Amino acid sequence: MSNDSSSRIVAHLKSWMANAAPGAKLPSTRSLVAQYQASPVTVQKALQALTAQGLIESRPGVGTFMRAVRTARPSDYGWQTAALRSPLAALPPASSTMRNVPQDAISFHSGYPARELLPERLVRAALTRAARGDAALSRPPAAGMPELQSWFAHELGASTPAGTTPPNPSDVVVLPGSQSGLSSIFSALVGRGQPLLMESPSYWGAILAAAQAGVRVVPVPTGPDGPDPGELARAFEESGARVFYAQPNYANPTGAQWPAETREKVLDVVRAKGAFLVEDDWAHDFGISSIPVPVASRDDSGHVVYLRSLTKSVSTSIRVAALIARGPARERILADRAAESMYVSGLLQAAALDVVTQPGWQTHLRSLRHQLESRRELLVTSVREHIPQAHIEQVPKGGLNLWLRLPDGTDLQRLARDCEAAGVIIARGDEWFPAEPAGPFIRLNFSGTNPGAFPEGARIIGQMLERNLG
Ligand SMILES: Cc1ncc(COP(=O)(O)O)c(C=O)c1O
Repeated sequence: MSNDSSSRIVAHLKSWMANAAPGAKLPSTRSLVAQYQASPVTVQKALQALTAQGLIESRPGVGTFMRAVRTARPSDYGWQTAALRSPLAALPPASSTMRNVPQDAISFHSGYPARELLPERLVRAALTRAARGDAALSRPPAAGMPELQSWFAHELGASTPAGTTPPNPSDVVVLPGSQSGLSSIFSALVGRGQPLLMESPSYWGAILAAAQAGVRVVPVPTGPDGPDPGELARAFEESGARVFYAQPNYANPTGAQWPAETREKVLDVVRAKGAFLVEDDWAHDFGISSIPVPVASRDDSGHVVYLRSLTKSVSTSIRVAALIARGPARERILADRAAESMYVSGLLQAAALDVVTQPGWQTHLRSLRHQLESRRELLVTSVREHIPQAHIEQVPKGGLNLWLRLPDGTDLQRLARDCEAAGVIIARGDEWFPAEPAGPFIRLNFSGTNPGAFPEGARIIGQMLERNLG
């Protein structure tokens, strides 16, 4: 029995049901076994999956039937229009990068690494140990398990130079993923209607969190060397903003890493303006040909609020991240967290801590670096060969993405649609711009499933682009 063959049967039965009458009887298990050349256990597994999805029901002694949808009359939700009123500000739609796509598609769109890039053995062992321990039944403190706070503080402290005070464990707030940290930081430190400076392009989730917090985003152009500090200073002055959100290491989507000089100058600007830098170090574990140096390691006066996530590197199911903030800013953010979710599951915190403190974690990170390097090389070579019209502004030194500038006049919507029809899923660049996009861009993620298909995927994108421009 394999998961793959049972999902194949599920997919086939779903398309059969799409054309069958409501309440139709499914073929018997025996005939399904014969039809799909699968074992009875695999067929049973497929039927259980369809039952769990509420699509079929079994009537003992009679057979298995498509569930008839019982609707006495069409639902009328019209009253909600009056009760909901118009939204103060409509949130942007959920990002297309979060879509689930057919298993056989060549997918470049998702931001999350494929399973083979995760430390599966360490994660499973850690979850088993966590389930047996105290964490399974006890409530951790609101700011997080003290041992995990220490681990995060110590990690940032390790890159803090002499003469700068490293963070304390008590400066750390553990979060259920850094996305919710962004919402809290923007609400607590910026506030509704107030300006927030943000690199452009920037992470779509930060744009979404800013919209949710009702803050006014002021875009600051950024390039392969990060933002121009002079331009940043001007943006602070013109807007009156006191917070700048940025990704100094392996930015999503561009892959840019700020040079040391930019890190220093940006920190000087932030200090001079009496402002905060919200540093999103989302790809701390994804260095490829450089190491990430957090700007936060140079700050001990509370100007940098540092966000560090383990979601993408430990397991997408262990949603644990942390923010490190000093001074009253931390208390403000913690109060917002308490109102939002009170505390993060102790079980997940214990499992995350277990994984990152195993000797195998460092071994895993070394092997991950090599795997990301060969995936990045394969994608870059494939793009250069098959999409010669695309411009790679920068081969990223880390992260998971390749950012491509396409020729002016490219119809991105059509390109994405044509690629998808040919089985290749790409992410359109416009989702990463807080205002108008600076041009037609696409983002290709090289950490997805089946890297062997990168050349074929690039060939299809090149072909569709040719057609798009022709
Ligand atoms: C730049 C950036 N920040 C934050 C996040 C959210 O991370 P988490 O999964 O920890 O919520 C992502 C996820 O894609 C990201 O790319």
